[in-house]
Amino acid sequence: MNDDEPMHAIVIREPGGPEVLVWTEVPDPRPGPGEVVVDVVASAVNRADLLQRQGFYDPPPGTPPYPGLECSGRISALGEGVTGWRVGDEVCALLSGGGYAERVAVPVGQLLPVPVGLVESAALPEVACTVWSNLVMTVGLRAGQTVLIHGGGSGIGTFAIQFAKALGARVVTTARRAKHEALTALGADQVVDYTEVDFVGALDGGADVILDIQGGEYLARNVAALATNGRLVVIGMQGGRRASLDLGALMAKRASVAATTLRARPPHEKAQIVAGVRAEVWPLVADGTVRPVVDRAVPMPDAARAHEVVASNAHTGKVLLTVSR
Ligand SMILES: NC(=O)c1ccc[n+]([C@@H]2O[C@H](COP(=O)([O-])OP(=O)(O)OC[C@H]3O[C@@H](n4cnc5c(N)ncnc54)[C@H](OP(=O)(O)O)[C@@H]3O)[C@@H](O)[C@H]2O)c1
Repeated sequence: MNDDEPMHAIVIREPGGPEVLVWTEVPDPRPGPGEVVVDVVASAVNRADLLQRQGFYDPPPGTPPYPGLECSGRISALGEGVTGWRVGDEVCALLSGGGYAERVAVPVGQLLPVPVGLVESAALPEVACTVWSNLVMTVGLRAGQTVLIHGGGSGIGTFAIQFAKALGARVVTTARRAKHEALTALGADQVVDYTEVDFVGALDGGADVILDIQGGEYLARNVAALATNGRLVVIGMQGGRRASLDLGALMAKRASVAATTLRARPPHEKAQIVAGVRAEVWPLVADGTVRPVVDRAVPMPDAARAHEVVASNAHTGKVLLTVSR
């Protein structure tokens, strides 16, 4: 992108429905020390973007106000002290916000080389960093263990199924019936239609690890579904933030419950996770063991349409937002 061209981004006009997302001319980002500017080729919709649009999830201080937790594109400017990256490099990046834009400034610790095609690589940073940091760092999933992944058809779920299989785990996942074939094709050993069956009863033996996106609604049943020494990690609250926890049930199983969020982590923690993903996940993506699952791509100015698709859960995997120049 030429420096003289006006820069556009999706601005949230006011908290509300998809119609408040407006493609507007905004100030150009400048790279701070240790940052690069990326000319964005694609970004992707994450569930958190819908909450931000509704006014429930403000970006951390110092982050652009536009939504967008990841992008792919080409480096167009280097800030002071940046080494190891050059103008023109094709990259993807984990962002704290600002991906729904033609350009974004990114700390170098959050950059990754592009492991597959430039556009589809925008589907990877947020799910790879979330799934790797939780399954590996937080709950230590190992080969031979059973993992229950809730919401297998989500961006997170489609990545987690493949990554857990690559680790050698047995994968059980929950999803509506329409998504079962796709999730089996991704490697899921068992898919439970949570609208018809209680996942606790459907599990054959307990789960050593549960990756949960429902929160309060599922807490008691998740604890019931854990095996002895099981670990539950909650990363979403789609079913509410509050529930009561039966500590006796947890103690009897010597089990544990954790909860994490990636966006709130400071840049040095994000950089550690990105480095881990580059070392342990990127080779699996490069050799095709784990692939980005893209439901569809929508031009970025039509982000409102992409939010409607995600809100209706009609998608399997990721919805991309593409920038045309
Ligand atoms: N903590 C973190 O750092 C972090 C980072 C990224 C994402 N997340 C969270 O992870 C979740 C997934 O994010 P995403 O962007 O990948 O979401 P997404 O693509 O929008 O998918 C949401 C999924 O939820 C499923 N779902 C709805 N109700 C369900 C239920 N009762 N049981 C099981 N699945 C259900 C839907 O599938 P069906 O059609 O099958 O219902 C849909 O696939 C969100 O809650 C998000 O906030 C957290």
